[in-house]
Amino acid sequence: MRRSRISVLGAGGFLGSHIVPGLIERFGCEVDAVDISFDKLEDDDPRIRRVRGRVEDPAVVEEVTRRSSVVLSLTALCNPAQYSTIPLEVIDASFTHLLPLVKRCAERRIRLIHFSTAEVYGLRALAADGAPTAEMSEDSCGLLMGPIHKERWSYACAKQLLERVIWAHGEHAGLPFTLIRPFNTIGARMDYLPGVDGEGTPRVLACFMNQLLRGQPLALVDGGSQRRAFMSARDMVEAVCRVVERAKACDKQIINLGNPGNDISIAELAQQLATAFAHEIPHAAPARFESVAAADFYGPGYDDTYERVPDIKKARRLLSWEPQQTLADMLPEIVHDYVQRYGSRVEADCRNLRQASGA
Ligand code: UGA
Repeated sequence: MRRSRISVLGAGGFLGSHIVPGLIERFGCEVDAVDISFDKLEDDDPRIRRVRGRVEDPAVVEEVTRRSSVVLSLTALCNPAQYSTIPLEVIDASFTHLLPLVKRCAERRIRLIHFSTAEVYGLRALAADGAPTAEMSEDSCGLLMGPIHKERWSYACAKQLLERVIWAHGEHAGLPFTLIRPFNTIGARMDYLPGVDGEGTPRVLACFMNQLLRGQPLALVDGGSQRRAFMSARDMVEAVCRVVERAKACDKQIINLGNPGNDISIAELAQQLATAFAHEIPHAAPARFESVAAADFYGPGYDDTYERVPDIKKARRLLSWEPQQTLADMLPEIVHDYVQRYGSRVEADCRNLRQASGA
């Protein structure tokens, strides 16, 4: 029984809600799905056992490491707006709260597949000698954080330190592990829409969908020339299944998962989303775009990565995997899902706001 059970911590979040059904479909296994809420995990397969709890709770750590042979850990506070506004919570969620789990996995020789982040590379891709390079590579790049008052880097730094803790447990205390560095994975159910099912500033996809649904201009931070390589959640699920399958090949490896073929500027992403939205809702008013200063949008302490392209040679080699979905493949589906999921709720929120302002 133990061999066929996987625990997924953060199973109720965006990535978890894609990965859990993917694991069940692929392996026919049982999944202990751990989270504090399961709104996004819509799958009601009986092989999913929902465990409501926090990863820092010793009883949860005890339970998942007793019941499962593999633990996938996905929990984090991963919206950049949080890094400079609630950095202590961000550091706890990405580092402090996970220390007992890492230790217990090592003691029990439970395989830990931990989701780190592309943020660990920092401001830009650098070779180990500090020279700029085009792609971010797991085992050769230096990691460049900004100064301490740029609190943006609190998350990246906490994530990097946990990587080092996991690595050390692997090298010196027998922990079987794989570290995954995801690069801007997008799909249905990502984040939340402010005023509907959350407050604050989500990541860029949800920000733009919120603005499109409300008929507001799409806010391009500092003009939107910064670039990201976006990968579909579907490609992520396939890669994660292969990491689970290929335990030996992936042991003690750090693996970038992303799609370098989908590297575009944020302004281009805004354009492409607006085009997909216009196809979905032909009577919608044409999208508008406006540049906003980063300090006004995120407040002080924000900083940005201007280019973030993954080197995925290692993922190709270890997993025989290639990301498949282009932006043209994935954006219409994502836009459709947001419209279905949120369209009427955003309309109701806009009505309420108009009534409250007497307009
Ligand atoms: C974030 C997280 O920090 C990473 O850990 C995570 O891996 C990554 O997202 C991800 O989605 O995988 P980042 O790409 O900077 O990193 O976050 P986004 O909020 O998605 O922002 C992307 C870019 O869009 C940033 O340059 C931001 O300034 C810009 N942006 C964001 C806008 O121009 N307008 C908006 O309304 C929101």
